[in-house]
Amino acid sequence: MPKTALLCPPTYFDVLDMKNPYMLGESPVDKQKARAQWEALRRALETAGVQIETIEAVPGLEDMVFAANQVFVGYHEKIGKFIVPSNMRFSSRQREVAYYVEWFRARDYKVIEVDFGDEYLEGSGDLIWHPDRSRIYAGHAFRSTIGGIWHLEEAMQKLGIPVIALELIDERFYHLDTCFCPLNDDAVLIFPGAFAQASLDELHGYWQRVHEISEEEAAGFIANGIVANGHFLTPRVTGNLEKILAQEKLKPLVVETSEYEKSGGSCFCMKNFID
Ligand code: ARG
Repeated sequence: MPKTALLCPPTYFDVLDMKNPYMLGESPVDKQKARAQWEALRRALETAGVQIETIEAVPGLEDMVFAANQVFVGYHEKIGKFIVPSNMRFSSRQREVAYYVEWFRARDYKVIEVDFGDEYLEGSGDLIWHPDRSRIYAGHAFRSTIGGIWHLEEAMQKLGIPVIALELIDERFYHLDTCFCPLNDDAVLIFPGAFAQASLDELHGYWQRVHEISEEEAAGFIANGIVANGHFLTPRVTGNLEKILAQEKLKPLVVETSEYEKSGGSCFCMKNFID
């Protein structure tokens, strides 16, 4: 299945504050290296047969390069392509949302506006489709709130799409996409230590194969990989990951993301699949 990804160039990318435990500011972002890594990610996606669209970077929005968060993208036969704009926890990131919404609006996506009130919901960082689109997994605790997920659930109910809330308990794995990565309809890769026990038990019920990675692998953003047309884009490979990918017939494609890891992000965070 051909896929199209939306990316945002890292023109103004930087680490300026601490929104997650990776953003220590110990070593500054190497801007040249960041640009080269972004270009390499783009090329790796193209190698995997993914078409690339881009949105223009905006001065002052240093996290805008993380294109996964500003909107949740979906499709339903009743309404076609749609987005749900996020309510981001940090105000600097909240300002990114309008630019993305405009981008999608101009391309005829239906915009499902949800009134989140004081609750938060952070797009595809915390909301991940089952590959067959039968349900949405929704991480909450550090960024999205359970209240935000209830609002989404209400909106998705009208389309008959179930939302499965999963509670996160380790601040290093603050978005669902840092500890949970569907590989195909039957298999998912997770770091179990990131989940509350009840959520871990529940998620097992939806998959035939649950592949576990270690804390060290997860801290190295291995669960933040991108599955695309038989490839798995990942910032690093371990023996354990190799075995998992071989079993699921995926080919690893290594893309270094050291500069983005300083901001708590890697491959998956830097794109949004839009079809
Ligand atoms: N610095 C960004 C933040 O904390 C990183 C976002 C990573 N995105 C993701 N989908 N995990 O908001």
